Amino acid sequence: MKNREQWGSKIGFILAASGSAVGLGNIWKYPHMAGENGGAAFTVVYLLCILLVGLPIVIAEFVIGRKTQLSPVGAFKTLAPNTNWKFVGVLGVCAAFVILSFYGVVGGWTLRYAMLSLSGGFMDFSGNPELAGQQFKSFISNPINPVFWQIAFMALTIMVIIKGVKGGIEKWAKIMMPAILFILVLLMVRGLTLPNGSMALEFLFKPKFGDLNASSVVLALGHAFFTLSLGMGTMITYGSYLKRDQNLLSSALWVILLDTLIAIMAGVAIFATVFALGANPDSGPGLIFVALPTMFPQIAGGILWGSLFFFLLFMAALTSAISILEVITAYFIDEKEWSREKATVIFGSIVTLVGIFCSMSMGGFNDFNTIFNISFFDFLDYLSSKYMLPIGGMLTALFILLKWGVNDFIKELITGMKNKNLEPNLVKALFIISALVVGFIITNEVIAILTGNPIIG
Ligand code: PFF
Repeated sequence: MKNREQWGSKIGFILAASGSAVGLGNIWKYPHMAGENGGAAFTVVYLLCILLVGLPIVIAEFVIGRKTQLSPVGAFKTLAPNTNWKFVGVLGVCAAFVILSFYGVVGGWTLRYAMLSLSGGFMDFSGNPELAGQQFKSFISNPINPVFWQIAFMALTIMVIIKGVKGGIEKWAKIMMPAILFILVLLMVRGLTLPNGSMALEFLFKPKFGDLNASSVVLALGHAFFTLSLGMGTMITYGSYLKRDQNLLSSALWVILLDTLIAIMAGVAIFATVFALGANPDSGPGLIFVALPTMFPQIAGGILWGSLFFFLLFMAALTSAISILEVITAYFIDEKEWSREKATVIFGSIVTLVGIFCSMSMGGFNDFNTIFNISFFDFLDYLSSKYMLPIGGMLTALFILLKWGVNDFIKELITGMKNKNLEPNLVKALFIISALVVGFIITNEVIAILTGNPIIG
């Protein structure tokens, strides 16, 4: 066997894994979901989901990866030879294809909006949401323009992956993660010092539980998987490049802390601006690409703040896209013995091609939409966040409970930890809770589709 690539440092691994977690999910999805679902009430449920379901599964993925030193398919094959568990890994590689196809499209939008802001292009939108909305719609539904930006974004992703684990993924995470944090702090301070900006804190942290309904609970759970990059073997892949001296419990806690902190900081920065300018907090997915560009020109230094914001979003999207492509690349390296260059270029290009259809489904090409009633883009998002990731996560928890065994799992987990006292029954209980909760959500979704009447929601 060839020598496996490894992370260069402990902190490098933590930054790369949190770079995967921190992405469009934190800065684009979380704020608008919170905005539409009662602000603080949604935040509280989201935090509970992260701790109860997210934490055990992040740890599980790290442990499986480090133990086997293989990406998901090989990892399940090694721990459960000649069984069907390897299909959990296969599902992960498929989910990576699905997610990266639409993720690359939005990644392209972030790059184009960063450039637009930099060239002063938001000025015309000042206080004019209709115009900003129209322009956004006409941009994303154009058959060529967004594809150009998507290809640029995917090319950057491919370039980083080709450079490998240490020289590509880790190196860029070490540059981009601190930059993301720094820019967010600036944007948050800028937002909170605007008149009325501090209303954002109340909106995000003072729960009014009356605002919360059952479907937002389901939404928060699904989002916990997406935002932590769980259920498709990303964290197994990243864990597989680890040496055995890494403390996996504290690494997982760091990843969760950074991911949550950055989502909340983005929420504060965005809602502070929204409240300062008297805009509507529940304007949905358009909050970032429509509402914010109308607001930046109204605050002092708007061109700078707008450009910083979209550049931050672009970097967050890039570090996540990198991790998604790495799942596919690592599969072809580990299982088919391809070279890193060949796997990355071939599959990076195929995903980009599927993404082009996805981009075109926003208006340039409507056939899919008329057949399935939703755009190809929404279909891929829905398929992955609502089904593939939660199912993958639930199967990972079940794998430890039913196949690998909690005791063997704990043995690997405590390697690299100073305090080795872990209560097996507690670990078991955590996995049972995550599997049950996720199993319930998926059943609920399926019942909702089949009968139109979900159990909750
Ligand atoms: N966690 C990323 C985000 O919040 O945007 C998205 C993501 C990355 C999902 C990697 C899944 C994944 F494997």
